[in-house]
Amino acid sequence: MAIVFITGSTDGLGKAAAQSLLDQGHRVVLHARSTDRAGSLGDIASRAEGVVVGDLQSGVETKRIADQVNAIGRMDAVIHNAGVYTQRSRGSTPEGHAVTVAINTLAPYVLTALIERPARLVYLSSGLHRGGEGSLDDLDWKKRSWDSAKAYAESKLHAVALASALARRWPQVLSNAVDPGWVRTRMGGAGAPVDLQTGQKTQAWLAVSDEPSALVSGRYWHHMRQQEPAGEAVDPGFQYKLLDKLQGITEVALSP
Ligand SMILES: NC(=O)c1ccc[n+]([C@@H]2O[C@H](COP(=O)([O-])OP(=O)(O)OC[C@H]3O[C@@H](n4cnc5c(N)ncnc54)[C@H](OP(=O)(O)O)[C@@H]3O)[C@@H](O)[C@H]2O)c1
Repeated sequence: MAIVFITGSTDGLGKAAAQSLLDQGHRVVLHARSTDRAGSLGDIASRAEGVVVGDLQSGVETKRIADQVNAIGRMDAVIHNAGVYTQRSRGSTPEGHAVTVAINTLAPYVLTALIERPARLVYLSSGLHRGGEGSLDDLDWKKRSWDSAKAYAESKLHAVALASALARRWPQVLSNAVDPGWVRTRMGGAGAPVDLQTGQKTQAWLAVSDEPSALVSGRYWHHMRQQEPAGEAVDPGFQYKLLDKLQGITEVALSP
């Protein structure tokens, strides 16, 4: 049985994946932004290997999350699930970054670099990543006027590009990205067509399954099937530039 760390497991797809993995007998490390939010985990907290706490808006707290996970031990898989959708304004995190960028792009990168390397990595993306293609020159929205939908789309393109870049950089790790579809969560809203069980299934399966179809890397998945992502996501030039920018912004380096 595997041990899996899931970011953003207080609600929605993260919590549903945690419940599903626990029900299958796997061990799960949960994550909440604060001790208050950890209090909302209910009975899954008592079934988990641990609950790590930290707000992904903050670079300092994100690094502490990695420390807490490493103190529990090496994970077999990490599901980078936490995310925010359209933010009204760019905002400014403690380090001065756009809130969407900090949570959706910088935090998964920093956690990937600082958590002891697992056997599998899964990044939650979205079909909306296809609207995120373009320049990386203003990744942190310092020059452009704020466009919340474009910022979300870019962050989800970064998730696919990061998964694909790591698949090539760390060939011994299975690294994949997932579009869960439009799911009935707080983010997706009550009118979304996809139920939670269907929405969480692919990422939970990629994290633990030994079926040959799950033992692949650098792929983009939607409802248990591989799809072609946007061209830039699989373009090594784009990936190289993205990793370079992320290292520059966060001052955290990925190991070779
Ligand atoms: N739902 C959809 O239709 C859909 C579609 C495509 C992709 N996705 C992706 O799927 C992932 C999960 O989405 P969801 O629908 O489950 O969203 P959700 O219901 O809003 O849950 C998001 C989770 O992320 C956590 N989170 C957000 N900001 C955080 C922060 N600053 N620090 C720590 N934790 C934070 C939330 O914690 P709190 O509970 O404390 O806020 C919550 O646990 C996201 O990456 C999203 O982009 C969702």
